Amino acid sequence: MTGPADTSGPAAPAIKAADSLVALREHIGDCHRCALGDTRTTLVFGVGDPKARLMFIGEAPGRNEDLKGEPFVGAAGHLLDELLAEIGMTRGDVYIANILKCRPPANRDPQPGETQTCTPFLEEQVRLIDPAVIATLGNHATRFILKTDRPIGALRGRLFHRGGRCVVPIYHPAAALYDRSKAEVLSDDFRRLRTVLDRVASGQMPDESGDQPALF
Ligand code: URA
Repeated sequence: MTGPADTSGPAAPAIKAADSLVALREHIGDCHRCALGDTRTTLVFGVGDPKARLMFIGEAPGRNEDLKGEPFVGAAGHLLDELLAEIGMTRGDVYIANILKCRPPANRDPQPGETQTCTPFLEEQVRLIDPAVIATLGNHATRFILKTDRPIGALRGRLFHRGGRCVVPIYHPAAALYDRSKAEVLSDDFRRLRTVLDRVASGQMPDESGDQPALF
C-alpha cells in the first residue's frame, strides 16, 4: 500500500516553461482559467518583434482589441503609434502586451484574481523576449512590474532596474485622450525612453533614479 502523496516539495509551477512565444500561445490555448474567458471575443496575446529590446506593457484589451485580437489598436493605440513615430520607431520594432489577455466587461479595471491568474503568462513572455527595457503604461502595469502601490503620477519620469532590465513608467496613452495636458508629458517621456534605449544599445546601463527625478 502506498502512503499519502509527498506534498513537501516545491509547489508545481503555475505554468509550464515554454521554449518559444508560439509554444506559450499554444499552452495558453482557449483560456478559461478565469471568468473573463467567458465574456471575451478574442484572447489578445501580444504583438511585435519576439526579440524586441523594448517591450510595452499595458492594462487589458478594450473593445477594438477584443474584436481584432491585437493590443492597442483603438484610439489609445493610434496615439501609441504616433508617440513611437516621434522617436523613430514603429510597433514592429517593439513588443506590446498587457497585464490581462482578455477584455474585462465594460473595460472595468483588472481584478486582483484575474491579474494573479494571467500575469504568469506575461512573465513568461518577458523571459522569452528578454527586453532590455520595459515601458509600463499606466497604473496597473507599473504597479505589477515594480511591485508598488504608488501611482503612475509619482513614478513617471523615473527609471528603475528590475531583474537586469530598465523599467520606465509612462502614463497610459488613454490618459492623454481624456486630459490633453498629459500629451506633452507623454512626448517627453517617449524622448527619455529613446535616450534609455540608446544608452543601453551603447553598452551603458543608465543608473536607477529611484526616488530622485531621472537625470537623463
Ligand atoms: N489599453 C490597454 O491597456 N491595452 C490595450 O491593448 C488597449 C487599450
